[in-house]
Amino acid sequence: MKIALTGTPGVGKSSVADILEKKGYKILRIKDIVDKFVVGYDEERQSKIVDEEKLDEYIRKIEEKDVLIIEGHLSHLLSVDGVILLRCHPEELKKRLEKKGWDKRKIRENLEAEALDIILQRALEKHKKIWEIDTTSRKVEEIVKEIEEIIKKQPPPNYGKIDYSNWLMENAG
Ligand SMILES: Nc1ncnc2c1ncn2[C@@H]1O[C@H](COP(=O)(O)OP(=O)(O)OP(=O)(O)O)[C@@H](O)[C@H]1O
Ligand SMILES: [Mg+2]
Repeated sequence: MKIALTGTPGVGKSSVADILEKKGYKILRIKDIVDKFVVGYDEERQSKIVDEEKLDEYIRKIEEKDVLIIEGHLSHLLSVDGVILLRCHPEELKKRLEKKGWDKRKIRENLEAEALDIILQRALEKHKKIWEIDTTSRKVEEIVKEIEEIIKKQPPPNYGKIDYSNWLMENAG
C-alpha cells in the first residue's frame, strides 16, 4: 500500500517523515529521486519543472505489499492508495517558511496557495481517499500518532473542513 504524505512547503512533511522512519515505516522522499524527472527550471516560481507522468510511471512500478509512505509536495499527483495532506494556518506557516530562509515573494505565494486549498483541489482531481490534518499549534509527535492511526485503521476520508480563507481576506493584496 502506497500512501502520499503531502502539503504546501513548510507544513512539516519532512519533519513528520523523519519520525515515521525512526518508527520503522518505509519512506520514499520525492526530493531524493526527483532529479531523474526534472525537465527544466521555472525561474518565475523558483522551482524545478518535473515530468509528472514519468515520475508516476516510476512510482507505479514499485511493488509494495507493506506500507510505503511517499513524502513530498507532488506525492498527491501520483498513483497512491491514499493521501495524507498536512495543513498549516498561513500565519504559522509564514514563521515556518521564514525559518527556512525563503524570500518574501516565495513565502507569500505559498501562504496564498495554502489559504486557497490548492493542494487539496489538485489531490481531489485524482483521489477520494484523502485525510487532512491541521498541524497548526500541534507537535510533530502528535501528528505522527494521528498518521499511524490513519494508516492502521483506514478511517473514512476526512477533508474540506479546514478553512483559512479569513486569513486571505485579512491579508488581501
Ligand atoms: N508541527 C510543527 N510545529 C512547529 N514547527 C514545525 C512543525 N513541523 C515542522 N516544523 C518546522 O517547520 C519548518 C518546515 O518543516 P519541514 O521542513 O518538515 O516542512 P516540509 O513540509 O518538509 O517543507 P518542504 O516542502 O519545503 O520540504 C522546519 O523548521 C520545522 O522544524
Ligand atoms: Mg521537506
